[in-house]
Amino acid sequence: MDHILILDFGSQYTQVIARRIREAKVYCTIGRYDMSVDKIASVKPKGIIFTGGPANVYAEDAPLPDAGIFELGVPVLGICYGLQLIAHFLGGKVEPVQRREYGKGMLQVTDPACPLLEGLPESIQVWNSHGDHLTELPEGFKGVARTDNSEYAVIASAERDVYGLQFHPEVAHTPKGNIILGNFVHRICGCGEEWTMRHYIDQAVDEIRSQVGKERVILGLSGGVDSSVAAALINEAVGEQLTCIFVNNGLLRAGEAEVVQEVFGRHFNIRLKYVDASARFVELLEGVTDPERKRKIIGNTFIDVFQEATEMVGGARFLAQGTLYPDVIESVPIDGNPAALIKSHHNVGGLPEKMHMELVEPLKCLFKDEVRVLGVELGLPKEMVYRQPFPGPGLAVRVLGEVTPSRLEVLRNADKVVIEEMKASDWYYKVWQSFAVLLPVRSVGVMGDERTYDYTIALRVVESKDGMTADWVKLPPELLERISNRIINEVKGVNRVCLDISSKPPATIEWE
Ligand code: XMP
Repeated sequence: MDHILILDFGSQYTQVIARRIREAKVYCTIGRYDMSVDKIASVKPKGIIFTGGPANVYAEDAPLPDAGIFELGVPVLGICYGLQLIAHFLGGKVEPVQRREYGKGMLQVTDPACPLLEGLPESIQVWNSHGDHLTELPEGFKGVARTDNSEYAVIASAERDVYGLQFHPEVAHTPKGNIILGNFVHRICGCGEEWTMRHYIDQAVDEIRSQVGKERVILGLSGGVDSSVAAALINEAVGEQLTCIFVNNGLLRAGEAEVVQEVFGRHFNIRLKYVDASARFVELLEGVTDPERKRKIIGNTFIDVFQEATEMVGGARFLAQGTLYPDVIESVPIDGNPAALIKSHHNVGGLPEKMHMELVEPLKCLFKDEVRVLGVELGLPKEMVYRQPFPGPGLAVRVLGEVTPSRLEVLRNADKVVIEEMKASDWYYKVWQSFAVLLPVRSVGVMGDERTYDYTIALRVVESKDGMTADWVKLPPELLERISNRIINEVKGVNRVCLDISSKPPATIEWE
Protein backbone atom coordinates (compact mmCIF):
# COMPACT_ATOMS: atom_id res chain seq x y z
CA MET A 1 0.00 0.00 0.00
CA ASP A 2 1.20 3.53 -0.75
CA HIS A 3 2.93 4.91 2.31
CA ILE A 4 3.89 8.44 3.36
CA LEU A 5 6.55 8.79 6.04
CA ILE A 6 6.34 11.75 8.43
CA LEU A 7 9.57 12.56 10.20
CA ASP A 8 8.96 14.23 13.54
CA PHE A 9 11.23 17.10 14.49
CA GLY A 10 9.38 17.83 17.73
CA SER A 11 6.28 19.54 16.39
CA GLN A 12 3.16 19.74 18.49
CA TYR A 13 1.22 19.06 15.28
CA THR A 14 2.90 15.84 14.14
CA GLN A 15 -0.14 13.67 14.77
CA VAL A 16 -2.40 16.27 13.21
CA ILE A 17 -0.39 16.02 9.99
CA ALA A 18 -0.74 12.25 10.07
CA ARG A 19 -4.49 12.49 10.54
CA ARG A 20 -4.84 14.91 7.62
CA ILE A 21 -2.88 12.56 5.34
CA ARG A 22 -5.08 9.65 6.34
CA GLU A 23 -8.17 11.76 5.75
CA ALA A 24 -6.82 12.05 2.21
CA LYS A 25 -7.09 8.22 2.22
CA VAL A 26 -3.34 7.65 2.20
CA TYR A 27 -1.58 5.48 4.78
CA CYS A 28 1.19 7.21 6.72
CA THR A 29 3.40 6.56 9.70
CA ILE A 30 5.44 8.77 11.98
CA GLY A 31 9.15 8.23 12.54
CA ARG A 32 11.81 9.98 14.56
CA TYR A 33 13.69 12.74 12.74
CA ASP A 34 16.97 10.80 12.83
CA MET A 35 15.68 7.62 11.18
CA SER A 36 18.48 6.21 9.04
CA VAL A 37 18.23 6.33 5.28
CA ASP A 38 18.41 2.53 5.15
CA LYS A 39 15.46 2.21 7.44
CA ILE A 40 13.55 4.85 5.49
CA ALA A 41 14.28 3.01 2.26
CA SER A 42 13.02 -0.23 3.78
CA VAL A 43 9.52 1.17 4.35
CA LYS A 44 9.46 2.32 0.71
CA PRO A 45 7.71 5.64 1.29
CA LYS A 46 6.18 7.35 -1.73
CA GLY A 47 6.82 10.67 -0.03
CA ILE A 48 8.41 12.13 3.09
CA ILE A 49 7.13 15.02 5.20
CA PHE A 50 9.35 16.95 7.60
CA THR A 51 7.28 18.37 10.45
CA GLY A 52 7.85 21.71 12.07
CA GLY A 53 9.73 21.98 15.32
CA PRO A 54 10.91 24.51 17.87
CA ALA A 55 14.60 24.46 16.90
CA ASN A 56 16.66 26.71 14.68
CA VAL A 57 18.58 24.86 11.98
CA TYR A 58 21.81 26.60 12.90
CA ALA A 59 21.63 25.69 16.57
CA GLU A 60 24.28 23.26 17.74
CA ASP A 61 21.81 20.64 18.88
CA ALA A 62 19.34 21.17 16.04
CA PRO A 63 17.59 17.91 15.12
CA LEU A 64 18.73 16.99 11.60
CA PRO A 65 17.68 14.16 9.31
CA ASP A 66 20.08 11.69 7.77
CA ALA A 67 21.82 13.75 5.07
CA GLY A 68 21.30 11.03 2.47
CA ILE A 69 17.57 11.58 2.54
CA PHE A 70 17.55 13.89 -0.47
CA GLU A 71 19.37 11.26 -2.54
CA LEU A 72 16.58 8.71 -2.16
CA GLY A 73 14.67 10.24 -5.06
CA VAL A 74 11.51 10.35 -2.90
CA PRO A 75 9.45 13.58 -2.92
CA VAL A 76 9.89 15.68 0.22
CA LEU A 77 7.60 18.28 1.79
CA GLY A 78 9.05 20.41 4.58
CA ILE A 79 6.75 22.32 6.93
CA CYS A 80 8.07 25.36 8.85
CA TYR A 81 11.25 24.05 10.46
CA GLY A 82 11.08 21.38 7.73
CA LEU A 83 11.39 24.10 5.09
CA GLN A 84 14.42 25.48 6.87
CA LEU A 85 15.98 22.03 6.79
CA ILE A 86 15.54 21.92 3.03
CA ALA A 87 17.29 25.26 2.73
CA HIS A 88 20.00 24.15 5.13
CA PHE A 89 20.79 20.95 3.24
CA LEU A 90 20.33 22.18 -0.30
CA GLY A 91 22.07 25.53 -0.09
CA GLY A 92 19.59 28.29 0.83
CA LYS A 93 19.77 30.78 3.64
CA VAL A 94 17.62 31.14 6.77
CA GLU A 95 17.60 34.27 8.90
CA PRO A 96 15.63 35.54 11.88
CA VAL A 97 12.69 37.72 10.86
CA GLN A 98 12.33 41.32 12.03
CA ARG A 99 8.82 40.69 13.17
CA ARG A 100 8.12 37.21 14.45
CA GLU A 101 5.24 35.84 12.42
CA TYR A 102 2.75 34.14 14.64
CA GLY A 103 -0.90 33.53 14.00
CA LYS A 104 -3.10 34.16 11.01
CA GLY A 105 -1.69 35.53 7.78
CA MET A 106 -2.61 35.72 4.10
CA LEU A 107 -0.77 33.75 1.47
CA GLN A 108 -0.64 35.00 -2.15
CA VAL A 109 -0.15 32.30 -4.74
CA THR A 110 2.35 33.59 -7.30
CA ASP A 111 2.71 30.43 -9.38
CA PRO A 112 -0.67 28.71 -9.72
CA ALA A 113 0.89 26.12 -12.03
CA CYS A 114 2.87 24.60 -9.17
CA PRO A 115 1.34 21.13 -8.54
CA LEU A 116 1.43 21.69 -4.78
CA LEU A 117 -0.89 24.69 -5.11
CA GLU A 118 -3.33 23.36 -7.70
CA GLY A 119 -6.93 24.16 -6.97
CA LEU A 120 -6.17 27.00 -4.55
CA PRO A 121 -7.60 30.50 -5.00
CA GLU A 122 -5.16 33.39 -5.49
CA SER A 123 -5.04 34.14 -1.81
CA ILE A 124 -5.73 31.97 1.24
CA GLN A 125 -5.58 32.27 4.99
CA VAL A 126 -2.66 30.44 6.62
CA TRP A 127 -1.38 29.86 10.13
CA ASN A 128 2.20 30.88 10.85
CA SER A 129 4.35 30.16 13.84
CA HIS A 130 8.00 30.90 13.20
CA GLY A 131 10.83 33.22 14.09
CA ASP A 132 13.10 32.45 11.13
CA HIS A 133 12.52 32.67 7.43
CA LEU A 134 14.15 31.92 4.15
CA THR A 135 16.10 34.79 2.61
CA GLU A 136 17.92 32.93 -0.15
CA LEU A 137 16.54 30.05 -2.18
CA PRO A 138 18.49 26.85 -2.62
CA GLU A 139 19.60 26.29 -6.19
CA GLY A 140 16.95 25.00 -8.55
CA PHE A 141 14.11 26.23 -6.31
CA LYS A 142 11.63 28.98 -6.87
CA GLY A 143 9.19 30.83 -4.67
CA VAL A 144 5.62 29.94 -5.65
CA ALA A 145 3.68 31.84 -2.97
CA ARG A 146 4.39 34.70 -0.57
CA THR A 147 3.11 36.36 2.60
CA ASP A 148 3.60 40.01 3.63
CA ASN A 149 6.64 39.06 5.63
CA SER A 150 8.08 36.32 3.58
CA GLU A 151 8.95 36.30 -0.10
CA TYR A 152 9.41 32.53 -0.03
CA ALA A 153 6.46 31.25 1.97
CA VAL A 154 6.16 28.27 -0.40
CA ILE A 155 9.17 26.99 -2.33
CA ALA A 156 9.33 24.31 -4.96
CA SER A 157 11.79 22.40 -7.04
CA ALA A 158 9.75 20.39 -9.50
CA GLU A 159 12.92 18.81 -10.77
CA ARG A 160 13.95 17.43 -7.39
CA ASP A 161 10.36 16.98 -6.22
CA VAL A 162 11.14 18.88 -3.03
CA TYR A 163 8.71 21.42 -1.57
CA GLY A 164 8.64 23.65 1.48
CA LEU A 165 5.93 25.56 3.35
CA GLN A 166 6.64 28.35 5.79
CA PHE A 167 3.23 27.90 7.46
CA HIS A 168 1.22 25.00 8.92
CA PRO A 169 -1.13 23.43 6.34
CA GLU A 170 -2.34 20.83 8.86
CA VAL A 171 -4.13 23.08 11.36
CA ALA A 172 -7.72 24.27 11.17
CA HIS A 173 -6.53 27.88 10.92
CA THR A 174 -5.27 27.07 7.44
CA PRO A 175 -8.69 26.16 6.05
CA LYS A 176 -7.44 25.10 2.60
CA GLY A 177 -4.41 23.28 3.98
CA ASN A 178 -5.98 19.92 3.18
CA ILE A 179 -5.86 20.80 -0.53
CA ILE A 180 -2.11 21.42 -0.27
CA LEU A 181 -1.47 18.19 1.63
CA GLY A 182 -3.77 16.33 -0.77
CA ASN A 183 -1.83 17.73 -3.74
CA PHE A 184 1.42 16.58 -2.21
CA VAL A 185 0.36 13.00 -1.57
CA HIS A 186 -1.80 12.49 -4.68
CA ARG A 187 -0.33 14.66 -7.42
CA ILE A 188 3.31 14.84 -6.41
CA CYS A 189 3.84 11.47 -4.71
CA GLY A 190 1.28 9.66 -6.87
CA CYS A 191 -0.48 7.93 -3.97
CA GLY A 192 -3.89 6.42 -4.65
CA GLU A 193 -6.88 6.65 -2.32
CA GLU A 194 -6.32 3.25 -0.76
CA TRP A 195 -6.58 3.88 2.95
CA THR A 196 -10.17 3.25 3.99
CA MET A 197 -11.49 1.37 6.99
CA ARG A 198 -13.30 -1.06 4.71
CA HIS A 199 -9.98 -1.94 3.18
CA TYR A 200 -8.36 -2.00 6.61
CA ILE A 201 -10.76 -4.68 7.83
CA ASP A 202 -9.65 -7.10 5.09
CA GLN A 203 -6.01 -6.45 5.82
CA ALA A 204 -6.39 -6.72 9.61
CA VAL A 205 -8.46 -9.90 9.37
CA ASP A 206 -5.68 -11.57 7.35
CA GLU A 207 -3.04 -10.39 9.81
CA ILE A 208 -4.95 -11.55 12.87
CA ARG A 209 -5.54 -14.96 11.28
CA SER A 210 -1.93 -15.44 10.41
CA GLN A 211 -0.76 -14.25 13.84
CA VAL A 212 -3.02 -16.42 16.00
CA GLY A 213 -3.43 -19.47 13.79
CA LYS A 214 -5.69 -21.94 15.60
CA GLU A 215 -4.88 -20.60 19.09
CA ARG A 216 -7.30 -18.96 21.49
CA VAL A 217 -7.51 -15.23 22.17
CA ILE A 218 -8.74 -13.47 25.29
CA LEU A 219 -9.82 -9.85 25.35
CA GLY A 220 -10.76 -7.65 28.29
CA LEU A 221 -13.88 -5.79 27.30
CA SER A 222 -14.46 -2.52 29.14
CA GLY A 223 -17.40 -1.21 27.15
CA GLY A 224 -15.18 1.61 25.90
CA VAL A 225 -14.62 2.34 22.22
CA ASP A 226 -11.20 0.76 21.79
CA SER A 227 -11.78 -2.63 23.39
CA SER A 228 -15.23 -2.86 21.76
CA VAL A 229 -13.88 -2.23 18.27
CA ALA A 230 -10.95 -4.59 18.85
CA ALA A 231 -13.42 -7.29 19.94
CA ALA A 232 -15.62 -6.80 16.88
CA LEU A 233 -12.60 -6.91 14.57
CA ILE A 234 -11.09 -10.03 16.12
CA ASN A 235 -14.53 -11.61 16.07
CA GLU A 236 -14.62 -11.02 12.32
CA ALA A 237 -11.23 -12.71 11.95
CA VAL A 238 -11.30 -15.63 14.38
CA GLY A 239 -14.66 -15.43 16.15
CA GLU A 240 -14.66 -19.05 17.29
CA GLN A 241 -11.33 -18.65 19.05
CA LEU A 242 -12.17 -15.42 20.88
CA THR A 243 -13.37 -15.11 24.46
CA CYS A 244 -14.13 -11.69 25.92
CA ILE A 245 -14.00 -11.07 29.63
CA PHE A 246 -16.10 -8.27 31.05
CA VAL A 247 -15.45 -7.36 34.66
CA ASN A 248 -18.17 -5.53 36.52
CA ASN A 249 -16.16 -3.64 39.13
CA GLY A 250 -19.21 -2.03 40.67
CA LEU A 251 -17.98 1.34 39.44
CA LEU A 252 -19.86 1.33 36.15
CA ARG A 253 -22.53 3.69 34.90
CA ALA A 254 -26.19 2.76 34.98
CA GLY A 255 -27.06 0.08 32.43
CA GLU A 256 -23.46 -0.42 31.32
CA ALA A 257 -23.14 -4.11 32.11
CA GLU A 258 -26.47 -4.84 30.40
CA VAL A 259 -25.53 -2.99 27.20
CA VAL A 260 -22.22 -4.83 26.88
CA GLN A 261 -23.89 -8.20 27.35
CA GLU A 262 -26.60 -7.30 24.87
CA VAL A 263 -24.26 -6.05 22.15
CA PHE A 264 -21.47 -8.60 22.41
CA GLY A 265 -23.21 -11.62 23.84
CA ARG A 266 -26.44 -11.47 21.89
CA HIS A 267 -25.87 -9.28 18.84
CA PHE A 268 -22.35 -10.40 17.91
CA ASN A 269 -22.70 -13.79 19.53
CA ILE A 270 -19.22 -13.53 20.99
CA ARG A 271 -18.26 -15.89 23.79
CA LEU A 272 -18.52 -13.54 26.74
CA LYS A 273 -17.46 -14.25 30.30
CA TYR A 274 -19.27 -11.81 32.59
CA VAL A 275 -17.66 -11.50 36.02
CA ASP A 276 -19.55 -9.62 38.67
CA ALA A 277 -16.81 -8.58 41.07
CA SER A 278 -18.56 -5.46 42.30
CA ALA A 279 -18.79 -6.59 45.91
CA ARG A 280 -15.08 -7.40 45.97
CA PHE A 281 -14.04 -4.00 44.63
CA VAL A 282 -16.37 -2.03 46.86
CA GLU A 283 -15.25 -3.96 49.92
CA LEU A 284 -11.59 -3.25 49.22
CA LEU A 285 -12.38 0.44 48.76
CA GLU A 286 -14.04 0.70 52.14
CA GLY A 287 -12.57 3.54 54.20
CA VAL A 288 -10.14 4.60 51.43
CA THR A 289 -10.15 8.32 50.59
CA ASP A 290 -6.74 8.92 49.01
CA PRO A 291 -7.19 9.14 45.21
CA GLU A 292 -3.92 7.38 44.37
CA ARG A 293 -4.69 4.51 46.74
CA LYS A 294 -8.12 4.15 45.23
CA ARG A 295 -6.59 3.86 41.77
CA LYS A 296 -4.01 1.31 42.96
CA ILE A 297 -6.58 -0.88 44.62
CA ILE A 298 -8.82 -0.80 41.56
CA GLY A 299 -5.93 -1.49 39.16
CA ASN A 300 -4.53 -4.38 41.17
CA THR A 301 -7.90 -5.93 41.87
CA PHE A 302 -8.74 -5.74 38.19
CA ILE A 303 -5.61 -7.67 37.31
CA ASP A 304 -6.38 -10.34 39.92
CA VAL A 305 -9.98 -10.73 38.81
CA PHE A 306 -9.00 -10.80 35.15
CA GLN A 307 -6.35 -13.45 35.77
CA GLU A 308 -8.79 -15.63 37.66
CA ALA A 309 -11.37 -15.26 34.94
CA THR A 310 -8.80 -16.19 32.30
CA GLU A 311 -8.03 -19.38 34.17
CA MET A 312 -11.70 -20.11 34.54
CA VAL A 313 -12.24 -19.99 30.80
CA GLY A 314 -9.29 -22.31 30.26
CA GLY A 315 -6.53 -19.79 29.44
CA ALA A 316 -5.26 -18.73 26.04
CA ARG A 317 -2.02 -18.05 24.26
CA PHE A 318 -3.01 -14.56 23.09
CA LEU A 319 -4.19 -11.46 24.91
CA ALA A 320 -5.89 -8.85 22.72
CA GLN A 321 -5.75 -5.15 23.50
CA GLY A 322 -7.18 -2.03 21.92
CA THR A 323 -3.87 -0.16 21.83
CA LEU A 324 -4.00 2.82 19.46
CA TYR A 325 -1.33 4.44 17.29
CA PRO A 326 -0.73 7.47 19.55
CA ASP A 327 0.26 5.02 22.33
CA VAL A 328 3.03 3.47 20.26
CA ILE A 329 4.51 6.38 18.31
CA GLU A 330 8.08 6.86 19.32
CA SER A 331 7.75 10.54 20.01
CA VAL A 332 10.21 13.38 20.00
CA PRO A 333 9.86 15.69 23.01
CA ILE A 334 7.78 18.72 22.05
CA ASP A 335 9.65 21.98 22.50
CA GLY A 336 12.45 20.02 24.12
CA ASN A 337 10.13 19.16 26.98
CA PRO A 338 9.98 15.41 27.62
CA ALA A 339 7.14 15.94 30.11
CA ALA A 340 4.91 16.95 27.24
CA LEU A 341 5.05 13.33 26.13
CA ILE A 342 3.62 11.97 29.31
CA LYS A 343 -0.07 11.41 28.88
CA SER A 344 -2.15 12.09 31.91
CA HIS A 345 -3.36 8.55 31.61
CA HIS A 346 -3.08 6.34 34.54
CA ASN A 347 -4.55 3.26 32.98
CA VAL A 348 -4.52 -0.20 34.39
CA GLY A 349 -1.07 -1.19 33.27
CA GLY A 350 0.87 -4.32 33.83
CA LEU A 351 -1.70 -6.78 32.55
CA PRO A 352 0.36 -8.18 29.66
CA GLU A 353 3.50 -8.47 31.82
CA LYS A 354 1.66 -10.37 34.51
CA MET A 355 -0.19 -12.65 32.17
CA HIS A 356 2.77 -13.89 30.11
CA MET A 357 0.63 -13.90 27.00
CA GLU A 358 1.40 -12.77 23.49
CA LEU A 359 -0.32 -9.57 22.45
CA VAL A 360 -2.75 -9.06 19.61
CA GLU A 361 -3.17 -5.35 18.97
CA PRO A 362 -5.18 -4.92 15.80
CA LEU A 363 -5.75 -1.16 16.24
CA LYS A 364 -2.10 -0.34 16.80
CA CYS A 365 -1.74 1.74 13.67
CA LEU A 366 -5.06 3.62 13.94
CA PHE A 367 -6.06 6.98 15.32
CA LYS A 368 -9.13 7.29 17.50
CA ASP A 369 -11.29 8.81 14.77
CA GLU A 370 -10.36 5.92 12.48
CA VAL A 371 -11.26 3.41 15.19
CA ARG A 372 -14.71 4.97 15.37
CA VAL A 373 -15.26 4.68 11.62
CA LEU A 374 -14.00 1.11 11.80
CA GLY A 375 -16.44 0.35 14.61
CA VAL A 376 -19.37 1.56 12.55
CA GLU A 377 -18.14 -0.49 9.55
CA LEU A 378 -18.05 -3.55 11.79
CA GLY A 379 -21.65 -3.00 12.83
CA LEU A 380 -21.23 -1.65 16.36
CA PRO A 381 -24.01 0.68 17.49
CA LYS A 382 -23.21 4.37 17.03
CA GLU A 383 -23.88 5.08 20.71
CA MET A 384 -21.06 2.74 21.60
CA VAL A 385 -18.62 4.00 19.02
CA TYR A 386 -19.12 7.72 19.60
CA ARG A 387 -19.48 7.61 23.35
CA GLN A 388 -17.56 9.96 25.57
CA PRO A 389 -14.36 8.77 27.25
CA PHE A 390 -14.86 7.05 30.58
CA PRO A 391 -11.95 6.49 32.99
CA GLY A 392 -10.76 2.96 33.77
CA PRO A 393 -11.36 3.34 37.54
CA GLY A 394 -14.90 4.36 36.67
CA LEU A 395 -17.17 6.22 39.03
CA ALA A 396 -14.59 5.83 41.82
CA VAL A 397 -12.78 8.92 40.51
CA ARG A 398 -16.08 10.81 40.57
CA VAL A 399 -17.13 9.89 44.09
CA LEU A 400 -14.79 12.11 46.05
CA GLY A 401 -13.68 10.77 49.39
CA GLU A 402 -14.82 7.32 50.40
CA VAL A 403 -16.53 5.17 47.78
CA THR A 404 -19.52 3.40 49.29
CA PRO A 405 -22.38 1.52 47.63
CA SER A 406 -24.87 4.22 48.63
CA ARG A 407 -22.72 7.06 47.32
CA LEU A 408 -22.17 5.15 44.08
CA GLU A 409 -25.91 4.76 43.76
CA VAL A 410 -26.46 8.52 44.20
CA LEU A 411 -23.83 9.34 41.61
CA ARG A 412 -25.06 6.70 39.18
CA ASN A 413 -28.56 8.16 39.29
CA ALA A 414 -27.31 11.72 38.83
CA ASP A 415 -25.03 10.63 35.99
CA LYS A 416 -27.97 8.97 34.25
CA VAL A 417 -29.89 12.24 34.29
CA VAL A 418 -26.91 14.13 32.86
CA ILE A 419 -26.48 11.65 30.02
CA GLU A 420 -30.19 11.61 29.22
CA GLU A 421 -30.49 15.38 29.12
CA MET A 422 -27.28 15.87 27.14
CA LYS A 423 -28.50 13.38 24.56
CA ALA A 424 -32.03 14.76 24.41
CA SER A 425 -30.69 18.27 23.78
CA ASP A 426 -28.18 17.07 21.15
CA TRP A 427 -25.23 18.25 23.22
CA TYR A 428 -23.84 14.85 24.22
CA TYR A 429 -21.85 14.23 21.03
CA LYS A 430 -20.73 17.86 20.70
CA VAL A 431 -18.70 17.89 23.89
CA TRP A 432 -15.69 15.86 25.01
CA GLN A 433 -17.22 14.80 28.30
CA SER A 434 -20.25 15.62 30.41
CA PHE A 435 -20.71 14.01 33.79
CA ALA A 436 -21.68 14.37 37.42
CA VAL A 437 -19.29 14.34 40.38
CA LEU A 438 -20.41 13.56 43.92
CA LEU A 439 -18.84 15.84 46.52
CA PRO A 440 -18.32 14.42 49.99
CA VAL A 441 -19.92 17.41 51.69
CA ARG A 442 -23.49 17.88 52.76
CA SER A 443 -25.39 21.09 53.16
CA VAL A 444 -28.78 22.29 54.27
CA GLY A 445 -31.78 22.64 51.99
CA VAL A 446 -35.55 22.57 52.15
CA MET A 447 -37.90 20.23 50.40
CA GLY A 448 -41.59 20.87 51.00
CA ASP A 449 -41.76 21.59 54.72
CA GLU A 450 -38.73 19.50 55.51
CA ARG A 451 -35.21 20.56 56.15
CA THR A 452 -32.74 18.41 54.21
CA TYR A 453 -29.07 17.75 54.80
CA ASP A 454 -27.83 16.23 51.57
CA TYR A 455 -25.00 15.88 49.07
CA THR A 456 -23.89 18.25 46.32
CA ILE A 457 -23.42 17.20 42.71
CA ALA A 458 -20.91 19.09 40.59
CA LEU A 459 -21.64 19.14 36.89
CA ARG A 460 -18.53 18.88 34.69
CA VAL A 461 -18.94 19.52 30.95
CA VAL A 462 -15.81 20.12 28.89
CA GLU A 463 -14.70 20.45 25.32
CA SER A 464 -11.28 19.14 24.36
CA LYS A 465 -9.37 17.64 21.43
CA ASP A 466 -7.38 15.02 23.28
CA GLY A 467 -8.02 15.39 27.00
CA MET A 468 -4.69 17.12 27.53
CA THR A 469 -6.24 20.57 27.72
CA ALA A 470 -9.91 21.38 28.13
CA ASP A 471 -12.33 24.24 28.47
CA TRP A 472 -15.70 24.25 30.20
CA VAL A 473 -18.68 24.36 27.89
CA LYS A 474 -21.15 27.21 28.07
CA LEU A 475 -24.34 25.17 27.96
CA PRO A 476 -27.63 27.04 27.50
CA PRO A 477 -29.10 28.08 30.86
CA GLU A 478 -32.36 26.26 30.10
CA LEU A 479 -30.48 22.98 29.77
CA LEU A 480 -28.51 23.60 32.98
CA GLU A 481 -31.76 24.36 34.71
CA ARG A 482 -33.38 21.16 33.49
CA ILE A 483 -30.42 19.05 34.56
CA SER A 484 -30.32 20.66 37.98
CA ASN A 485 -34.07 20.37 38.55
CA ARG A 486 -34.16 16.76 37.51
CA ILE A 487 -31.19 15.76 39.66
CA ILE A 488 -32.54 17.48 42.74
CA ASN A 489 -36.06 16.16 42.23
CA GLU A 490 -35.24 12.65 41.10
CA VAL A 491 -32.02 11.72 42.85
CA LYS A 492 -32.51 10.94 46.47
CA GLY A 493 -29.73 12.31 48.65
CA VAL A 494 -28.91 15.40 46.56
CA ASN A 495 -30.17 18.91 47.29
CA ARG A 496 -27.68 21.07 45.41
CA VAL A 497 -26.09 21.12 41.92
CA CYS A 498 -23.04 23.25 41.08
CA LEU A 499 -21.39 23.91 37.73
CA ASP A 500 -17.64 23.46 37.39
CA ILE A 501 -16.28 26.43 35.42
CA SER A 502 -12.58 25.62 35.54
CA SER A 503 -10.40 24.92 32.53
CA LYS A 504 -7.58 22.39 32.27
CA PRO A 505 -4.93 23.38 33.14
CA PRO A 506 -4.82 24.24 35.95
CA ALA A 507 -7.78 22.02 36.91
CA THR A 508 -8.06 18.47 35.58
CA ILE A 509 -11.12 17.05 33.86
CA GLU A 510 -11.86 14.43 36.52
CA TRP A 511 -12.04 15.67 40.09
CA GLU A 512 -10.75 12.50 41.79
P1 XMP B 1 -7.74 14.36 33.63
O1 XMP B 1 -8.65 14.17 34.80
O2 XMP B 1 -6.34 13.88 33.91
O3 XMP B 1 -8.30 13.42 32.51
O4 XMP B 1 -7.78 15.77 33.11
C1 XMP B 1 -7.94 13.48 31.16
C2 XMP B 1 -8.77 12.47 30.41
O5 XMP B 1 -8.39 11.16 30.79
C3 XMP B 1 -9.50 10.45 31.31
N1 XMP B 1 -9.00 9.63 32.39
C4 XMP B 1 -8.76 8.32 32.28
N2 XMP B 1 -8.91 7.49 31.23
N3 XMP B 1 -8.14 5.71 32.56
C5 XMP B 1 -8.62 6.18 31.39
O6 XMP B 1 -8.76 5.42 30.45
C6 XMP B 1 -7.95 6.48 33.64
O7 XMP B 1 -7.52 6.03 34.69
C7 XMP B 1 -8.28 7.87 33.49
N4 XMP B 1 -8.24 8.93 34.32
C8 XMP B 1 -8.68 10.00 33.63
C9 XMP B 1 -10.48 11.52 31.74
O8 XMP B 1 -11.81 11.02 31.76
C10 XMP B 1 -10.26 12.57 30.69
O9 XMP B 1 -10.94 12.28 29.49
